Parts: sequence; C-alpha cells; structure tokens
Amino acid sequence: VPKRITAYTLALPPRDSETPAYLWLCAALRAEILEGRLGPGARLPATRDLAAEYGLSRGTIVAGYAQLEAEGYVRGSTGSGTYVSDTIPDDLLRVRGGGRGARSVGEDAAAPRRARHRLSAAGRRVEPFPDAGPRATRAFRANEPALDLFPAALWAQVAGRRLRRVSTELLRGCPAEGYPPLREAVADYLRAARGVRCTAEQVLILSGVQEALDLTSRLFLDGASRACVEDPGYWGAALAFSSVGARISTVRVDDEGMMVPPRRLSAARVVYLTPAHQFPLGMTMSLPRRLALLDWAHASDAVIFEDDYDSEYRYRGHPIPALQGLDERGLVLFAGSFSKVLFPSLRLGYLVVPPDLVERFAAAVSIGTRHAPLMEQAILCDFIVEGHFGRHLRRMREVYAGRLGALLEGAHRELAGLLEIIGVEAGLQVAGWLADGFDDAAVARAAARRRVEVVPLSAYSRRRMRRQGLQLGFAAVDEGEIGRGITELARTLEAIRR
Ligand SMILES: Cc1ncc(COP(=O)(O)O)c(C=O)c1O
Repeated sequence: VPKRITAYTLALPPRDSETPAYLWLCAALRAEILEGRLGPGARLPATRDLAAEYGLSRGTIVAGYAQLEAEGYVRGSTGSGTYVSDTIPDDLLRVRGGGRGARSVGEDAAAPRRARHRLSAAGRRVEPFPDAGPRATRAFRANEPALDLFPAALWAQVAGRRLRRVSTELLRGCPAEGYPPLREAVADYLRAARGVRCTAEQVLILSGVQEALDLTSRLFLDGASRACVEDPGYWGAALAFSSVGARISTVRVDDEGMMVPPRRLSAARVVYLTPAHQFPLGMTMSLPRRLALLDWAHASDAVIFEDDYDSEYRYRGHPIPALQGLDERGLVLFAGSFSKVLFPSLRLGYLVVPPDLVERFAAAVSIGTRHAPLMEQAILCDFIVEGHFGRHLRRMREVYAGRLGALLEGAHRELAGLLEIIGVEAGLQVAGWLADGFDDAAVARAAARRRVEVVPLSAYSRRRMRRQGLQLGFAAVDEGEIGRGITELARTLEAIRR
C-alpha cells in the first residue's frame, strides 16, 4: 500500500484531567483507526504540529505514538513520519467499527459469520448450579447461616495481621492438597468433633463441597458409569455427576436415612449421601443402615461420598460420628464445608480421602485451580488455631437453637393441622409435611407473594413424592422475622384451603 498523506484533520475528543495526556492521545488515535477514519497507510500528523495544535509537549506526542506502535496500530521510521499499519485485519476494523466507520472501511457491510463453537458432549451437557441471585434475607431462607452475625471485625483483625506479616512463601503458593497447617487444623477438628479417622495427609482443602463433587465426578465417573443419589436429595450432587455423562439412579430415604441401593445398582461407582442430617428431610442415618451401606459399597467396589455439610449444628442428643469413622477399608470420601459455619463466599471446604487416593485428587486439583486461595487458607487457619472458630460455633449454636425454638413454637401454635415439622435435631433448616390436598410448589409460589420463602420438597425429588412438603430455614433471620413468616405461611395455607 503506497504511503498516503492524510488530508484528514484530527478532531480528538476533549481530555479528562485524570487520564495522562499520552494515554488519552493513544486512545483517541486508536479509535480513529478502528473506526476507519484513519485508513491503512495514512500518515499521522507530525509530532510538532500535533503538539502545537493541542497545546501538548512533543514528548507526550512521541510517547503516544510509541505506545500505538508497540500495539501494532502504526509504524514509524525516524525522520520519515508515522503511518497507520497496513496489516490491521479488516475483521478487527469491522468488529470494532460499526456504523459510519465500518462502512468506510470495506465494501462488505454484512456481519461476519459467527464462530461455530464445537463443544464436547460434556460442554453441551453442563447445567448451571441454581442460584437465585442477590435478594433480601427473609423467613424462611434455607441453606444460609446468620450472615449478619458473622464476626467480621474479628476476621478482619486476623486477616490484617496475616497480611502485614505476609511472607514471600505465602505469596508464592502451596501444594495442590492445601496449606499444610490448615490441613493439620482441619484433621484435628474432624477427629475430635466428627469422629473422622484421618491424618492431615488425607485432607485436601478445596473450594467447598461442590468442588469435591466435581473432582469426584472427574476421577470416578464417565459416560458409561452410574452414580446413586438420595431422593429427595441435594441437586448439586446430581448436577456434578451428570455433567460428566454419568447416569443417575435415585435411592429412597426412610426414617433411617438412605436405603441401601438394590442389587441391580451394584455397578454404581459412586453413592452420594448426607448421613448426619439428610438433605432435605433431616433424619440421621441409623447405625445398622450405615454398616449395611459400607458392606454394599465394598461388595460393589463403589465409593461413598459422605456430605457432612452442616452437622456442626446439633440441638438434641449427641453428635453422630461420621460414617467415614466406621470404615476401615477406604470406602468413604468425607466432605465438609465452611460455607455454613463461616460464610459461603469464603469458598473453602475439605475432602478427606483414603491414603491411596490423595495423589489422584491432588493431580486433578493441580490442573484446575492449582490450589485453593492461599491467603484465605492462612487466615482461616489462624482463625481456627486461635480459638475463634470454636467460639463462633458455640455462639451460633445458641443463636440457632433459639431460632429453631421460635419456629417450632410458632408452628405448633399457628400451623397445627396444616404443616407437620420434622427433622429438628440438627442443621440450619427443617422440613415439614403438608396436610393432604396441598401442592407444595403452589404453596411456595403463594407464600412468595407474602414475602415468605419456602422450598417445595418436590424440587429436591426426581419422582413424584408420596407426600408434599416444604423446607424451612430458621438460621438466617431472627425470631421476629420467623414469627412474621409463620403467621404469613398460616394465612397462605388457610387461603389455599378455603
Ligand atoms: C447438602 C449440601 N451439600 C453441599 C453444599 C455446598 O457446599 P459448598 O458451599 O461447600 O460447595 C450445600 C450448599 O447449600 C448443601 O446444601
């Protein structure tokens, strides 16, 4: 392309006082080029002329031209001027240009063909984790702790101390398995509080139970395999398993927790369950059932994924030790989370795996997140080791026991004959069976119109449930809001019944 002298007078936009002059000049010239007003080969004004015209120093203009040259928009040779590159692809001009500029660049104003993204089977299959997005906290928000009572000032103190003393080691990174002192602290806690049999070497620090499910799916499941989940149960597990193509089989739960899968499912490679506090019905798995499930898994060469998502909160009786603690054969992957005991956006949790699987899981972490964010791990470790974690748990247990009491009393007073509450020993939510004749999804929609959140139990089930029911959280809001929720829910149910 022959060099052309531009006959074009630059009309650059006004400069705001915050942008350095050379960057402003650069952005203005870049726009002129991309929108086609300065075509390939066009000569930019001499630095001296432009400096005089805009009242800038020549050094500023030289710096701006040098930046554009480094980005490939112009080329220059000392003494003979600066020219718009001949090699800016037309597509870039068209994509960025639009409107007036685009038409002046090329004859063909038709939009370019959109890229054809040839997704894998997994890429086509993956479904998003349901997320309702930000919304005001109200009765009976489920699956959420009392975030307004989180000791943020204390956390900030611990974090501030960590950050002020930060070492290059901490800035560099840590093994895929996690920050070693945190793995020690979590192992100590799980042995003492949850009866988990483990050493720190078996603990992986992950971004939560959901990452543990994702890794388990990738390591154990593929298109030809099968996974068992509870019904009703936690949809996050089925979403992760089916994302890799596994077929999902549902297994019923009764008063003793998940039933042992029938013989025809013995090819299943993974069995997911919530034995401490069944999600969403709340029962605890009985000891005979636990032993029978372990034997079944052993005979079937399946792994058990034990999701211990919220068992720190127990209001009646003694904590039930983990299923993992009964296992001497390496059948159980034990997962837990700080989402409910601290706050969900922390995105930290853990997975305890049999010794021979540590290296496989660590390899899978290392090609994904590399490791969980180290600064948060270190802050959390200090928070635990300094005793704040234990104190926070004890305090919240009292708060939640009070809120659960308010919910039960209110339900007894105002919901008798309408909703029978079950699953009240542990956790942050209860379930309730609706009286005959109600449709739980319709109740949830009607309650929402009175600013009351309840989750229909049918949302957690893949089959038609024999009874209709609701999940009600009690941890996220105070007794006053729980009282309002009960009254509004009673009105909702009475209105539907009428
Ligand atoms: C039963 C159950 N398991 C796991 C999770 C996910 O936990 P995390 O935030 O650690 O991924 C949740 C979140 O609500 C849950 O309810």
